[in-house]
Amino acid sequence: MTDLAHEELVRAALDAQKRAYAPYSSFPVGAALRTASGKIYQGTNVENASFGLTICAERVAAAAAVAAGERDFAAIAVVSRGGVTPCGACRQFLAEFAPLLPIVTVDSQQPDRQATYRLDALLPEQFAKDDL
Ligand code: THU
Repeated sequence: MTDLAHEELVRAALDAQKRAYAPYSSFPVGAALRTASGKIYQGTNVENASFGLTICAERVAAAAAVAAGERDFAAIAVVSRGGVTPCGACRQFLAEFAPLLPIVTVDSQQPDRQATYRLDALLPEQFAKDDL
């Protein structure tokens, strides 16, 4: 990813975070997923009064891309307080489409505080369709 493409992805995740629906946790998360076509799909966490129905920003972004017909994921940026890495469920969900996906985490309070991971480092020994 070029520096410009990286910055654009981070900006899209910061922008998405503003639309997070997180009244219960007060922990808004924004995600931006770039696909091979170059398009960006945004996601936010969407919480629910029935807490267990909450969905994370990463899965919303991934589902938006798939629903648009895009399954070739190039990179994802995730913005949150403290710059957390995706939860276990999201790691598995992303691995379905991109086992080696680059993941950029960003601290919303200090957006220059970023870290980059590869999904296979965060989720080693992945369970995948070939195992079925
Ligand atoms: N959350 C995400 O959206 N992504 C993450 O990577 C971590 C957790 C959301 C789920 C819930 O709405 C809130 O953050 C607190 O767990």
